[in-house]
Amino acid sequence: MTAKPLLTAFALAAAVTAAAAALTRDDLSDADRVRVEAVTKPTTDFSIGEPFEAMPGGKATTRKTRDANALSHPSANLSFEDQQLFLVGNGLFRKEWVSSPSSTQASDGLGPLFNARACQSCHIKDGRGHAPASAEDDAISLLVRVSLPPDEAEQKAIEAGLRVAVPEPVYGLQIQDFAVAGLPAEGKIEIAYEAVQVELAGGEVVELRKPALSIGNPGFGALADGAMLSARIAPAMSGMGLLEAIHPADILALADPAMPMATAFRAGRT
Ligand code: HEC
Repeated sequence: MTAKPLLTAFALAAAVTAAAAALTRDDLSDADRVRVEAVTKPTTDFSIGEPFEAMPGGKATTRKTRDANALSHPSANLSFEDQQLFLVGNGLFRKEWVSSPSSTQASDGLGPLFNARACQSCHIKDGRGHAPASAEDDAISLLVRVSLPPDEAEQKAIEAGLRVAVPEPVYGLQIQDFAVAGLPAEGKIEIAYEAVQVELAGGEVVELRKPALSIGNPGFGALADGAMLSARIAPAMSGMGLLEAIHPADILALADPAMPMATAFRAGRT
């Protein structure tokens, strides 16, 4: 019940970012390598702009609008087919889902519990989300993970990369603060801010807001004793395609051989 939204998130993200996966390091010719080294060489003269500064993403640099949609443009050098993949993924990312039964058959199936109707609701226009400004504001682009303190064996499994955390027995690993009609949500994310004075190294004192997190109206009974809450702000999506373009072999080459997960990936078991 709780892991599903994020799994869907990653599956869709793969569709959104697959577009940039065309070129790997092994595909570079010697001539390319020399060219790339010339472009990425650190400068020694900081009084003038570097030759390639106007195009920080090389040919991928987009020159489209710099308005509120600035983070939503694909790389400028996608092939026609890859642009199509991007547009399909972007369409899914922006789509508002509704619960069944409904008049639409293409966007239904939301719930019964959920965090938002669309990926966009949290990753706002492909940018990052934000914490609620006040107790009245909603916490839509922030999600709250919940877990129990691990016992010794569970802690070992976490350290070995075999499990992520110990789920709360009823609420799982993530609080879902919305539900379809007729069902209670798992609860309301509540954040109270406390003003804290912090002294900087230069003696200046600034005031920061310290958030205290709680779940109001828990829909399925009180959370288990000792349940720990942890808030996450939705990160920006820009550049995810570039991450996707890193060849898996390069990532595996850097993986810690002592981690069982890395070994499992290598053997193709996951
Ligand atoms: C309720 C808010 C919310 C919704 C809805 C949501 N996300 Fe996220 N997303 C997050 C948060 C928060 C994280 C960071 C998770 C963490 O650090 O544990 C995240 C992480 C990600 C990441 C990893 C980013 C990185 O830098 O590692 C991707 C990719 C992503 N989401 C894509 C999607 C897609 C695609 C959808 C729609 C199917 C979606 N998300 C829906 C909140 C949301």
